Amino acid sequence: MSLNTIEINRLMDRFDSHASVWLFGYGSLIFKADFPFIERRPASIQGWSRRFWQGSHDHRGTEHAPGRVVTLVPDEGATCHGMAYLVTPEEFAHLDHREKNGYLRLATEIAFEDGSAAEGIVYIATHENAAFLGPASERDIARQIATAQGPSGPNSEYLLALARALRELGKHDEHVHAIERHLAELIGQASP
Ligand code: SIN
Repeated sequence: MSLNTIEINRLMDRFDSHASVWLFGYGSLIFKADFPFIERRPASIQGWSRRFWQGSHDHRGTEHAPGRVVTLVPDEGATCHGMAYLVTPEEFAHLDHREKNGYLRLATEIAFEDGSAAEGIVYIATHENAAFLGPASERDIARQIATAQGPSGPNSEYLLALARALRELGKHDEHVHAIERHLAELIGQASP
């Protein structure tokens, strides 16, 4: 099942009058920046953990065989590392379309590696959205990812690109990297 969040996100007009807005990406937005940006910087947000708990019917799976992509779940004391992009508010029309399968824009504080911080936007798919799949063992998640594919390509490509991008940022995410190891085992390849 899927839920189109475009109309709800359009109502989030808090930053519309700003010349530029920071967007925090923690999933495909780290490794696939298909929008113009003014600047990008490694960054983090507090109180959230990245989890492959969101179903993907439109990008990395289908209505009948959804893939799994990441969302953020509340986790007190946790830090989620990713990439922040400074964009003009006009970019949100494209971003809302890209993240339409359950993700809502949320205002958040974004911390940069030089110790500075800014308010910006992150897209989060909560447990209330129709495409939310929720927890499963990391091995079962890898199994589902191994076979799913959709219009944007194989689900495994998303997982591997995210795992690689986090390594390039110098950030270990045990959930993501454990699923990557399970996938390598399932397809009989050595783990990176
Ligand atoms: C994000 O990357 O920040 C949102 C989730 C995704 O598009 O993979």
